[in-house]
Amino acid sequence: GAPAYLEVEQSYIIIKPDGVQRGLVGEIISRFEKKGFLLKGLKLFQCPKDLAQEHYKDLKDRPFFPKLIDYITSGPVVYMAWEGDGVVASARKLIGATNPLQAEPGTIRGDLAVQTGRNGVHGSDSPDNGKREIALWFKDGKLCQWESVQTPWLI
Ligand code: TYD
Repeated sequence: GAPAYLEVEQSYIIIKPDGVQRGLVGEIISRFEKKGFLLKGLKLFQCPKDLAQEHYKDLKDRPFFPKLIDYITSGPVVYMAWEGDGVVASARKLIGATNPLQAEPGTIRGDLAVQTGRNGVHGSDSPDNGKREIALWFKDGKLCQWESVQTPWLI
């Protein structure tokens, strides 16, 4: 592969079942688009239990884990790969605090959610987890290779 210093950072983002059910798919995607990150992969998908457990494996000993797995598998999710300099930390800022009541207004959770257990969206917490999660969910490893016409205006 490319040397590490040439690798462009990617974050793995999920619009969780509540976000899909509440008709917030467009609104949430729009936040990342307007910020200027590049969408490299996207799918509407019902997550099976084993994938949910693998995705959240770092939380498997937490008391809320069974509820979290039930929730994330309860309806279709939209999952995405977004690319750009600093996208992982920036996406976390756009998403806001885990507890939506503590998330700042202007963030996705701050504007659109109330409960921690239904906080609408997931974003990778490190570039390494971004890679791990993208590899886990985009099984064939195929993200779309393209350049937005906006790119020269945004970088
Ligand atoms: P975590 O990775 O700590 O938060 P974030 O999504 O902000 O990175 O937790 C993953 C998800 O687990 C979180 O989005 C919602 C759920 N969760 C609970 O249901 N209860 C809790 O007390 C915590 C910490 C998380």
